[in-house]
Amino acid sequence: MLATTAGIRQAAAYLRSGRLVAFPTETVYGLGADATNPAAVSRVFQAKKRPVGHPLIIHAATTAAAFAVGGGGPRAARLAEQFWPGPLTLVLPLRPDAGIAEAVTGGRHTVALRVPRHPVAAALLREAAMPVAAPSANPHGRLSPTRAQHVRDELGSAVDLVLDGGPADIGVESTVLELGAGQPMLLRAGGISAEELAALIGPLAEPAAHEPARAPGMLRKHYAPNTPLRLNADAPSPDEVYLGFGASRRATCNLSPTGDLEEAARNLFTMLRRLDSARAHRIAVAPIPDHHLGKAINDRLRRAERGAAPSDGPPPAQTVCERPS
Ligand code: TXA
Ligand code: MG
Repeated sequence: MLATTAGIRQAAAYLRSGRLVAFPTETVYGLGADATNPAAVSRVFQAKKRPVGHPLIIHAATTAAAFAVGGGGPRAARLAEQFWPGPLTLVLPLRPDAGIAEAVTGGRHTVALRVPRHPVAAALLREAAMPVAAPSANPHGRLSPTRAQHVRDELGSAVDLVLDGGPADIGVESTVLELGAGQPMLLRAGGISAEELAALIGPLAEPAAHEPARAPGMLRKHYAPNTPLRLNADAPSPDEVYLGFGASRRATCNLSPTGDLEEAARNLFTMLRRLDSARAHRIAVAPIPDHHLGKAINDRLRRAERGAAPSDGPPPAQTVCERPS
């Protein structure tokens, strides 16, 4: 359904009645449910085939509505003032009286909160007037959707309504930052760079590799196409399709011919889907600079590299990126 005023009103009514609504955000499409309704939240886990215990991000229309769910504090307030609405998720102490379904947090004492800036998401959240739990609207372990059609293709009738607001403009998920007692902890690189966050609140810690419980749901394998990936490839071999960056020659798809990281993030998941559909032996990927949004891109590529299963397809189709995106 197109994200008109009437469409948004109907989507809000669906959320209030416990149904699932996929909606655009500036990062990726989310699969939304009323965060205070345990049955609705449980349907999100079923639709995604997401293991229970993996906590969901709660989306709110305003900073005040978000901080009514999770405790603020001066650092959170400063971050919210600078980056909300926007692609930053803060993990904060859950307010026990907020009425959030237990499955949203997986029984934790913390909750992940974000105020998205996409106009359709913002209008939907205002109209629904409730905290909306929304993971990315993809089956568990698959690429996140950056277009309404991706959601329809992959979740189908498991979603009651898909609001179509066009392609997501950032293209990678939000940055997840945990604010506990100690140093702020970067749980997921994303749409706001670590450099931007550190400029405001000082150095960030990152979870140690042996501490997976710090970032529940952040599996090492994730964001996976079916075709295996080969990263940091300066050129493709004959049985590979090539995801280029900058002045790459022989690119089947190019994330950004001018080497712009924002453009590359926006194109990442769509181009990976297209290259995956070519059913090549492998997808070779050009080196991506590891700073700012490049960190989020490299993080998704490393997970996709670990998640893929080898395929025995026909020879690679080199034409998947000839259509404009
Ligand atoms: O951009 C995004 O963040 C998208 C859009 C739809 O907002 N949402 C998204 O949600 O990517 P999801 O469920 O795919 O990723 C949520 C991640 C979890 O994998 C987990 O790492 C973290 O957020 N998270 C959620 N609750 C947490 C908590 N209480 N403590 C630590 N991490 C948490
Ligand atoms: Mg996800």
